[in-house]
Amino acid sequence: MLEQTKISFIGGGNMAEAIINGLISQQAVEPLALYVSDISEERCAYLSAKYDINITADNTEAIEEGDIIILAIKPQNFAGFSAGIPPIAANKLVISILAGIPTHKIESTLGTGIRVVRVMPNTPALIGHGMAGIAAGKNASGFDIDTTQFIFNQLGKTVVVDESSMDAITGISGSGPAYVFYFVEALCNAAVSLGMTEDQAATLVLQTFKGSIELLISSQENPASLRAKVTSKGGTTERGIGVLESYNIRSIFREAVTAAANRSKELSANA
Ligand SMILES: NC(=O)c1ccc[n+]([C@@H]2O[C@H](COP(=O)([O-])OP(=O)(O)OC[C@H]3O[C@@H](n4cnc5c(N)ncnc54)[C@H](OP(=O)(O)O)[C@@H]3O)[C@@H](O)[C@H]2O)c1
Repeated sequence: MLEQTKISFIGGGNMAEAIINGLISQQAVEPLALYVSDISEERCAYLSAKYDINITADNTEAIEEGDIIILAIKPQNFAGFSAGIPPIAANKLVISILAGIPTHKIESTLGTGIRVVRVMPNTPALIGHGMAGIAAGKNASGFDIDTTQFIFNQLGKTVVVDESSMDAITGISGSGPAYVFYFVEALCNAAVSLGMTEDQAATLVLQTFKGSIELLISSQENPASLRAKVTSKGGTTERGIGVLESYNIRSIFREAVTAAANRSKELSANA
C-alpha cells in the first residue's frame, strides 16, 4: 500500500521509533522511504545508525520530502514547530499522534485545506502490540483513513472512530496500560504480603495475566463466562471476587476511565 510513498516524521522520539520499527520490520516500506527530523542531534544519529533512514534537523526539509507527514513531537512543542515552517500543501497527508490536539486546530494552523488524520496510539506499540484509535479530520478521505490504518496495523490493532470518541479512546486504551500496570502492581504487593518473594510474586502475577489474556483471546467465550467457570460455589475464587464486588470495583473502573476521558477533553479544549 505504501509503495513509492515517502513518510516524514516530525520528532523522532519513542512513538516515532515504534512506528518506524513497525513499518521496517513488517517490510511495509523501504528504510530510505523514511525521513525523520528531530532537534536532538543525538537522536538523529541513533535513528540513522539503527534503521538506516534519512535524518535531518530541518522540519521544513522533512515536510518537503514526505508524502505523509507524521507529527510525533510532544503537544507542548506544537506551537513552536508550526511557527517555524511554511504552510503544508494539501497534497500531503498529515497524521498527528499529538495527544489532546484536535484536527481543527491542526488544520487551521498548518495550511488551508490540509488533510489531517488524528491517531491515539498506546505504549505497547513499542513491542508491536499497540492499540490505536483513528479519526478523520474534515478534509481527510477514506483512502487517507485506510492508509493510516495500514501504518498503525503494523504495530498492533486499530479502530476507526468519530473524533468525538477520541477522549474516550484516550481514557480506555491510551491510559489503559497504566491501569493494567497498577493492577499488576497491586496483585504483586498482595502476593508479597502473603509471604512470596518479589521475584516469585512477579512471576506468579505476570504469567497469570499473560495466560488469562491469551485464554480470553483464543476462546470463543466472553470474560464473564470464563470467570464463571473458575468460580465454583463456596470456593476460593468466589470469596475473592466477593471482596472486589463489595468495593464496587466495576464502578471504580468506570469512574477512572471517565475521569481520564474528561481530562483529555479539558486538554483538547485548551489546546
Ligand atoms: N508515548 C506514548 O505512550 C504516547 C501515547 C499516545 C500518544 N503519544 C503522543 O506521541 C507524541 C510523541 O510522544 P513520545 O513519547 O514519542 O515523545 P518523545 O519521546 O519526547 O519524542 C518527541 C521528540 O521530538 C523532539 N522535538 C521536540 N520539539 C521538536 C521540534 N520542534 N521539531 C522536531 N523535533 C522536536 C524531541 O526532542 P527533545 O527531547 O530534545 O525535546 C523528542 O526527540 C506526543 O505528542 C504524545 O502525546 C504518546
